[in-house]
Amino acid sequence: MPASTPSTTPPSPGRSEVVYIPFGVPERFRVPIHEGDDPWCRKRAELWGMVGTGKGAIVLIHGPRGRGKTQMVCDVCHFVRNGLGGRKPVNTRYTTAMDLFRDIRGAFNSDTRELDLIQRYATPALLVIDEAHERGQTDFEGRVLTEIVDKRYIAMRETFIVTNETPEQAQKSLGPSIWSRMTQTGGLVEVNWVNYRAGGGK
Ligand SMILES: Nc1ncnc2c1ncn2[C@@H]1O[C@H](COP(=O)(O)OP(=O)(O)O)[C@@H](O)[C@H]1O
Ligand SMILES: [Mg+2]
Repeated sequence: MPASTPSTTPPSPGRSEVVYIPFGVPERFRVPIHEGDDPWCRKRAELWGMVGTGKGAIVLIHGPRGRGKTQMVCDVCHFVRNGLGGRKPVNTRYTTAMDLFRDIRGAFNSDTRELDLIQRYATPALLVIDEAHERGQTDFEGRVLTEIVDKRYIAMRETFIVTNETPEQAQKSLGPSIWSRMTQTGGLVEVNWVNYRAGGGK
């Protein structure tokens, strides 16, 4: 760990697998949304409860655009990373699928090894891969995604994959390896009540 540790480093000294990893949550989603007892908040609590259990759940969060999927997973990142609810703070990483592949592809043009970049996504206690539908479906992307998810699966670390696709479409695009690990450990969480972008909700 560098001497000038950024203030955003999670307070988990002494745990060798915890390294400084940028939190990654975009500006728009950094402030958690209201507390409450509506279906959206209950779903968020359900996801939050899956993190840090040592079960290594791989969860597919799906639903149409504007339903609050990104806000929900970013809130969960915020909660677990800051140890809210009296739980031990753990490292999280949020990324879109596109940024993830761009990052790994960058290894070809730099001194960083592809494996080191993959480790960046394999080590956080919670990894969120948002916009999983926004990818090129190339062999390279399929291989990288499967490798990251599998490394997390064997290490019992939670992975949230977020998509606008239907489960049928996602099953095809994610491939059998990720799909079988997901159905075994976490399963599907649908986020689909109101379209908040269309002025729904409160
Ligand atoms: N539970 C909620 N209540 C009110 N507004 C919300 C809620 N969830 C999300 N939003 C807002 O609605 C917009 C769309 O949410 P977003 O998470 O981007 O949806 P999705 O990822 O499903 O497309 C964002 O501006 C977000 O802050
Ligand atoms: Mg989104």
